[in-house]
Amino acid sequence: MLGLNSKSFSFFATAIPAFTLLVQADCSIWNMKVDQKTMGWLPEGRIPVYNVSVRNTCDIRGGCALANVHMTCGDFNTSLPVDPDIFRYLSFNDCLLVGGRSIQMGSVASFLYAHSKPYPMTISSVTCFPRIPKIRLNSL
Ligand SMILES: *[C@@H]1O[C@H](CO)[C@@H](O)[C@H](O)[C@H]1NC(C)=O
Ligand SMILES: *[C@@H]1O[C@H](CO)[C@@H](O)[C@H](O)[C@H]1NC(C)=O
Repeated sequence: MLGLNSKSFSFFATAIPAFTLLVQADCSIWNMKVDQKTMGWLPEGRIPVYNVSVRNTCDIRGGCALANVHMTCGDFNTSLPVDPDIFRYLSFNDCLLVGGRSIQMGSVASFLYAHSKPYPMTISSVTCFPRIPKIRLNSL
């Protein structure tokens, strides 16, 4: 009796972590690649222009969309207007990318800004939406 119980317990002990692993298959800030490069200068004052591009490089099984992407951005201020729907300063070192909307796997969000020095553009948080593998149904 005791032997049976401990056997079924060990079954659950191994089954539960496997299940948890499946459910927690998750993406993170490391699934977003940020590139920042100098593009030239604004004619007035020769203020450098930067191109920031953020790519969803999600490689978890089935892929994922990433939303609510927050980035570090110091006291972001730009001499070149940036559409706040693309990149919005919220508070010190907290900027929101594409209004918090999702960026699909392989997609890129990019914008230009101008400032005397580049801001430290890194991903600070994301919400991961794993794509659940679809069940393929035969169509006949
Ligand atoms: C942003 O920069 C402009 C000049 O490009 C300046 O006039 C303005 O005061 C700055 N804003 C802040 C909040 O620093
Ligand atoms: C920034 O550079 C990338 C290529 O690295 C390009 O695809 C994108 O269109 C550029 N963004 C802007 C706003 O020019």
